[in-house]
Amino acid sequence: MTRDTETETAFEGVLRQIDDTVPFEPGYYNESYLDRRITARMRRRDTESHTEYERLLREDDGERQALMDALTINVTEFFRNPEMWDVLRGVLRERTAEQRRVRVWSAPSADGREPYSVAMLACDDPEIDESRVEVLGSDISEEALDNARDGVYHTTRTTDIAAELEPLSDPDRYVERDEDAFRVRREVQRLVDFETHDLIRDGARDPFDVVLCRNLLIYIDVDHKGALFDTLEASLADDGVLVLGMTESVPPDRTDRYEAIDKRRRVFRRA
Ligand SMILES: C[S@@+](CC[C@H](N)C(=O)[O-])C[C@H]1O[C@@H](n2cnc3c(N)ncnc32)[C@H](O)[C@@H]1O
Repeated sequence: MTRDTETETAFEGVLRQIDDTVPFEPGYYNESYLDRRITARMRRRDTESHTEYERLLREDDGERQALMDALTINVTEFFRNPEMWDVLRGVLRERTAEQRRVRVWSAPSADGREPYSVAMLACDDPEIDESRVEVLGSDISEEALDNARDGVYHTTRTTDIAAELEPLSDPDRYVERDEDAFRVRREVQRLVDFETHDLIRDGARDPFDVVLCRNLLIYIDVDHKGALFDTLEASLADDGVLVLGMTESVPPDRTDRYEAIDKRRRVFRRA
């Protein structure tokens, strides 16, 4: 066996361990992403080889959890990419004027900052009727969803919550601040529900008027993007609006099914 083949086989052994022991399907994600995350954990545990790390995974519950957390990367922000939120503002104004009920799905929602941003925007903009807005946040990570349901966020060395909330006219109306902790107020929380949902395994949900699927597709292997898009499409109402992350796009074989509301901000309407 050449050294490369040996390394390759040991890497696959680690992936098999993940597949067998944690609720995460490595086959759906692109290999360079998996490799980066696994290598980071190996470094953290001072593990020299994939074979050694595979053994560690088999024997150590804590490491399995830590790897699961590392794989379900849940970096997020309130009003991430603020320029997109101006486009969404227009969509919500229009839809709440026309419909009695406007359903928005943030999938994946990570720790809840994206769906809470939708609810805060609806409460903040006088031309959006927030009583017509219902938001669902879903994610594969239970830990992220626990944080989301708590609705408490902290300013740290790397995260400035006050800066993230700047797009709001009066952030204090939506969060209660206690030094570095920001608690989302009840009036915002009551617009948002959270549920566990795996966008690859669990299939479509009820039709939504707006679906935000941002910053997950970049990690998904090209062979599985189609399945994820099938889920998104089947979960969109006839003229529903789809929002992708700033570096993500509609796959080339599906572009005829969408018209851009704002192509640069990645906001599309089902054609
Ligand atoms: C980078 S965050 C994106 C959060 C938010 N949409 C944003 O753009 O800020 C990616 C999230 O995808 C979740 N995730 C990974 N695989 C998933 C899957 N198969 N189904 C649902 N969520 C998934 C992760 O747990 C993580 O919270």
